[in-house]
Amino acid sequence: MERIAKVAVLRRRIDVARREGARVGLVPTMGYLHAGHVALVRRACAECDFVVASVFVNPFQFGEGEDLDSYPRDLEGDAAKLETAGCHALFCPDAEEMYPEGRPLTHVHVDVIGDDLCGAARPVHFDGVALVVTKLLAICEPDAAYFGRKDGQQLALVRRMATDLSFRAEIVGCPTVREADGLALSSRNAYLAPADREAAPAIFGALRVGAQLVTAGEREPRVVVEKIRSVLADEPRLDVEYVEARDARTIQPLARLDGEVLLAVAARLGPARLIDNVVLRIDGDSVEVEAGEIT
Ligand code: PAF
Repeated sequence: MERIAKVAVLRRRIDVARREGARVGLVPTMGYLHAGHVALVRRACAECDFVVASVFVNPFQFGEGEDLDSYPRDLEGDAAKLETAGCHALFCPDAEEMYPEGRPLTHVHVDVIGDDLCGAARPVHFDGVALVVTKLLAICEPDAAYFGRKDGQQLALVRRMATDLSFRAEIVGCPTVREADGLALSSRNAYLAPADREAAPAIFGALRVGAQLVTAGEREPRVVVEKIRSVLADEPRLDVEYVEARDARTIQPLARLDGEVLLAVAARLGPARLIDNVVLRIDGDSVEVEAGEIT
C-alpha cells in the first residue's frame, strides 16, 4: 500500500490507475479505524480495482468545545489495518495540505437534510462534512465512495449533495458493524469508561424494540418513538439527546411510517456522544429491518 500525503501526488497516482482502466473507490475516514471501516475498505476492494482510504481529522466539522483535540488518532495502526484489508493507497494529508489558505471562504451547505437531529446539536458539523467530502471527491474523482450507515443522516446528506453537484461517484452505504452485545462500532467508543461501556448496548436494544413494534404492524411514528424512549429510560446512565423516526432519504418527519425509514437515537454517555440507527423498509405489511452486522 502506498502512503500519500500530497494532493498532487495522489492525483497523479489515480490518473495512472484510471489510464490502466481501474475503477477507483474512495473510503473517507477520520482514522482510528475499527472493523466498520475495515468492512468499508473490503467492500470497496471487492467492487473497485484501485482503492484509496483517506485518514484526515477534518477540523471544520468540529464545533467549539467539541473533541477535535482529543479525537483518537493512530496512523500507524490505521496503515496496518488498511494494508491487511487490501487497500491500495492511504491518503493522509495534514490540515495545511487540505486547507492551504486556512479557513475556506467557500461553503458547501446542504439545506434541510442537515438541519435537525445531529445538525441541531452540532450546528457547524454537516457543513464541515459536506466541505471535506466535496474536496475528497474533487481530489480523487472516484467511481464509488463508501460510507457507513451508522451515520444515517450524514449518508443521506452526502447522497443528496453528490446528486445536486453531479459528482461522478456512486455513493455506497454499508451496514453498521456491531460488537457482539450490539454496540455500534465507533472511534468514539474509546471514550467509554467501563460502566458506560456496559450501559452502551441499551441504545441498540431500544432501537430493536422500536423495529419489532413496526414489524408487528405499528405505523404511527410518535408511538414508536415513545416506545424507544421508554426503553432508553431504563438505563439511567444515558442522557438521551433525540429519538426520531424519519424518512431515511430526506431525514424529514413522516405522518405515517412507510417506505425507507430511519429510527435514530443520539445519547450522551459520560464524555461520549453516541449515535445509532436501524433502517426499516416498509411496503404495506412487509417490513425489512436493516440493523447491521455483528463483528
Ligand atoms: O464519517 C466520518 O468519519 C467523517 O464525517 C468523514 C465522512 C470522513 C468526513 O470527515
